[in-house]
Amino acid sequence: MNIIQAENYKQMSELAAKKLIEQINRKSDSVLGLATGSTPEGLYEEIIKEYKEGNVSFKDVTTFNLDEYVGLSKNNDQSYYYYMHKLLFDHIDLKTDQANLPNGDAKDLQEECSRYEASIQQAGGIDIQILGIGLNGHIGFNEPGTPFSIQTHIVDLDESTRNANARFFDSIDEVPLQAITMGIDSIMQTKQIILLVSGSKKAEALEKLVNGPVTEDFPASILQKHPNVTIIADSDALSEL
Ligand code: GLP
Repeated sequence: MNIIQAENYKQMSELAAKKLIEQINRKSDSVLGLATGSTPEGLYEEIIKEYKEGNVSFKDVTTFNLDEYVGLSKNNDQSYYYYMHKLLFDHIDLKTDQANLPNGDAKDLQEECSRYEASIQQAGGIDIQILGIGLNGHIGFNEPGTPFSIQTHIVDLDESTRNANARFFDSIDEVPLQAITMGIDSIMQTKQIILLVSGSKKAEALEKLVNGPVTEDFPASILQKHPNVTIIADSDALSEL
């Protein structure tokens, strides 16, 4: 794994934006894997800035998001669909039908998982995947104990994950109990991974990811086995390494 130390959150976001933009400028029809949460917000701001300055175009790009809550409609301001449109898609020239997220409001969720996984394959696979990490080592919404062999699937969210994400909702009771997420196998099939980590709260998780045993009890540890991972982390997040 290649580890890049950024001085702070802003520099981490700028470095990640630079990598994504280089990828698109090398291959205009790149397939990007995108993530949500607080960590990539700065990255999306940087991308919008670069787009407005004319340094990149998304007109041939396809995107797939990692995950979506079950039971929230697209208009719900806590859905990842809403998040992605508000923080990125509405500000760039990405075509709406090329921006993919799992539909957490689908009638048949199982079928939605298969459809989503198949559409990633049909697009030729993900060229570059942005990842964050949860405090318990989750990537996407793959909670501890998730089999490494699994593809896009429905998950019951850990109480700790619901607590961590409750800050975006009015109360913990409003945080959905389930989500659809790309599986560990789907993530491992991506050609390149950029993992963003910021802040001292994540330092222990990052240390475990890099030095700990590869175990389903700490899903992010599988990244040690991926052939092309770049970790971009700020000094606070790297403080335990
Ligand atoms: C959420 C998302 C993950 C994200 C993680 C960390 O649960 N499903 O994709 O990486 O939490 O989020 P944050 O960046 O807000 O710490």
